[in-house]
Amino acid sequence: MKTTRSIAAVRSEVAKWRRLGLSAGLVPTMGALHAGHMALVYRSRQTHDRTVVSIFVNPTQFGPKEDYSKYPRTWESDRDLCEDAGVDLIFAPTAPTMYPDGFATSIKAGHLGDLWEGAARPGHFDGVATVVAKLLSIVTPDTAIFGQKDLQQTVVIKRMVSDLNLPVRIAVAPTVREPGGLAMSSRNAYLDLLSRTDAQSIYRSLKWAEKQVRSGVTSDTRLAREMSKQIETGKRFKVDYIGFCDTESLEKKKAAKPPVVILVAAKCVVKGPAYNRRYIDNLIIR
Ligand code: PAJ
Repeated sequence: MKTTRSIAAVRSEVAKWRRLGLSAGLVPTMGALHAGHMALVYRSRQTHDRTVVSIFVNPTQFGPKEDYSKYPRTWESDRDLCEDAGVDLIFAPTAPTMYPDGFATSIKAGHLGDLWEGAARPGHFDGVATVVAKLLSIVTPDTAIFGQKDLQQTVVIKRMVSDLNLPVRIAVAPTVREPGGLAMSSRNAYLDLLSRTDAQSIYRSLKWAEKQVRSGVTSDTRLAREMSKQIETGKRFKVDYIGFCDTESLEKKKAAKPPVVILVAAKCVVKGPAYNRRYIDNLIIR
């Protein structure tokens, strides 16, 4: 496995693969890798000859009140996980490499970036779209692989790729969960034991709602009210939004009928390291 901070080194490595007729998959990450990220790596390895993982904590997708400087950075363990998983190349640029002095151009995610997570994190999806466009342009993979865990991110990126005619396939891999159902996330490390148990109610409520929808219940307000109750009952989480949406436009649907995606965000409200952090999840009912 090679690791590099240099754009030129990535370009020359990928060019070498191309000359040999080899395909390449890219897994963009911000590091602090866990089994959720590694599932994307395995997916890339299954379907491509070579796999690149990018590790870059992207400053432009953090809001002024979000702690960019405190985002977990675990380089050694990330590198070991990638090595063991058979990654061919890690691209870990510095911020000045990605955003040199005078950097001025960025991508606007538009309306899709203003909904749901975007409403709580203004500018977040512009930052995501911009950095992903740059990574795609640097690595030029055949496929870039993202997790369903961040469903809105996948929708924004697919839209951007289509709007800008970028020559890349976007693949979405299922959410990897902890044994209790909580979606794996670097934020889970901040949860104490009780909050972690409570956080499991997010996925439990999604599964509950799925059952209701499958048995013919269509009132999103009723379902959302009951889901909120389930999530907030331990008084450790406060629901920010629950939406029953169209899987592509992410607009609220008139009735909770398949195909529908249920989006949830809840904030931890107990004092401690997880305080005020957002936990998001979703479930698609086809
Ligand atoms: P990050 O949060 O590091 O996530 C990298 C990728 O891993 C994303 O596609 C995310 O959806 C996926 N992922 C995270 N947890 C997962 C889980 N439990 N199961 C499956 N996939 C999971 O998302 C970002 O970084 C950034 O916004 C990025 C796209 C790298 C742009 O900076």
